[in-house]
Amino acid sequence: MKIQRFVRLGLVAGAVMLLAGCWERPPVEMVQHGYRGTGMAQVYNPRTLVKQQDLNKVPVALPAAPAEGPKAKEIYKNVQVLGDLSVAQFTRLMASMATWVSPNDGGCVYCHNPANFAEDSKYTKVVARRMLQMTQYINANWQQHVAETGVTCYTCHRGHPKPQDQNGQMAYWYAAGDPAHKGGMLGWRDGQNEPAYSVGAASLPNEPFSRFLLGDSNIRVQSQHALPMAKSTQDIKATEWTYGLMIHMSKSLGVNCDYCHNSRAFSSWPQSAPQRVTAWYGIRMVRNLNNEFLDPLKPVYDADDLGPKGDAPKLFCATCHKGAYKPLYGQSMLKDFPELSKPSTDGKPLYPAEGKPAAEEQKVAAAQ
Ligand code: HEC
Ligand code: HEC
Ligand code: HEC
Ligand code: HEC
Repeated sequence: MKIQRFVRLGLVAGAVMLLAGCWERPPVEMVQHGYRGTGMAQVYNPRTLVKQQDLNKVPVALPAAPAEGPKAKEIYKNVQVLGDLSVAQFTRLMASMATWVSPNDGGCVYCHNPANFAEDSKYTKVVARRMLQMTQYINANWQQHVAETGVTCYTCHRGHPKPQDQNGQMAYWYAAGDPAHKGGMLGWRDGQNEPAYSVGAASLPNEPFSRFLLGDSNIRVQSQHALPMAKSTQDIKATEWTYGLMIHMSKSLGVNCDYCHNSRAFSSWPQSAPQRVTAWYGIRMVRNLNNEFLDPLKPVYDADDLGPKGDAPKLFCATCHKGAYKPLYGQSMLKDFPELSKPSTDGKPLYPAEGKPAAEEQKVAAAQ
């Protein structure tokens, strides 16, 4: 008798757990997004939205500092990016960086040897210098994506030296290592059935990012031909990679597919929402940043900060968005930090010359 009841209880508990996996507890809210009659609607969970509000509060900016007085490059020994700021502006930005990036990890000391601030002995300072350049570069060159809103260190870091997403998971990616079960009877599984958080734990290739966010493989699924053509890229594998990326994009923005697409015709641009165009630029921006800034930092990092294939941590949509359709719900911090809005004009070349062999090789490898 007792055992039977126990089994029955177990079955009920099992069913509840199964349902919980694929079903969100009501109430959820529906908001129309596309034209009437297209069925394009967003489903929001009010409980998630409450959690999101705290994550997207903007910290109060320190009062603006005067531009007058001696310049940082005249006073300090080793400034390569921020030399044209006044010492007061420079100090204000350092103090802000300490609260944006490393408030619970030592503040200034996370990047500096306190005995000698000019020294570049910590890798974190070298990375931070490149991050300063990247932030300026994004705001100056990728307005098609970030608009006037722009980004600061806080957009990605939110008080953590290693960016986290809305669920506290790492908000950057590495190339997937070799699969646990290579080849064998199952053949090449391409990371399938090794569920990865970044693609919603779906049975999709667990790392589509090397192809699309470092390499420039075509994100196309729908074939233009009735019959399979030779060398067609619109094969099942390309479809799986594409869906992996799309699930990452939806989760990162906290939206459904039809925030961008009319799901009766995923490929059709005229039927898509304007946000799909912003997303298209977003993909190109992330690709550009990974190739120009993140991946080339490989030699700077400690070995245990590199991925299983020895690559540096790289960006994707979750790095900035963290579950919000616009990072920080579109509030701009950049207006209080104009020094981050364009490259400094110190007369030095800020960006390495064209043609970075390491990144090029990876592109080729990823496209294969
Ligand atoms: C996230 C990393 C980071 C944090 C945190 C940080 N700094 Fe810096 N700091 C840098 C970088 C990068 C430079 C070099 C900037 C350049 O090349 O233009 C620098 C340069 C300096 C310099 C110039 C030293 C010289 O003589 O060349 C001083 C002074 C300084 N920081 C003070 C501070 C203070 C004080 C704090 C804490 C309130 C702080 N920094 C927090 C990264 C950081
Ligand atoms: C577009 C997103 C983005 C922006 C903007 C950004 N960072 Fe980063 N940052 C990252 C990512 C991704 C990493 C890699 C995480 C890691 O090191 O494991 C990183 C790494 C770092 C690290 C090394 C942390 C470590 O412990 O390995 C420092 C320091 C840093 N950033 C400072 C800054 C500063 C200062 C700014 C603003 C000037 C800034 N970042 C702007 C995304 C960003
Ligand atoms: C934030 C906007 C956005 C969201 C959300 C989004 N997509 Fe996409 N999708 C795009 C963009 C942009 C492209 C085209 C990418 C390119 O050409 O570089 C695309 C391409 C596609 C394609 C390829 C179409 C073709 O031409 O063959 C499919 C299929 C697709 N998405 C399905 C989905 C699915 C399924 C979801 C939900 C899981 C989704 N998308 C969510 C923006 C989005
Ligand atoms: C460097 C930080 C950053 C990264 C990385 C990033 N975004 Fe954005 N994104 C922004 C900012 C900032 C805005 C807000 C621009 C504005 O105010 O109009 C934005 C806006 C958008 C919008 C417009 C939303 C709307 O309702 O108008 C879409 C769609 C979008 N991003 C998609 C993506 C996708 C997809 C990716 C990954 C391929 C991505 N973003 C990566 C910073 C980023």
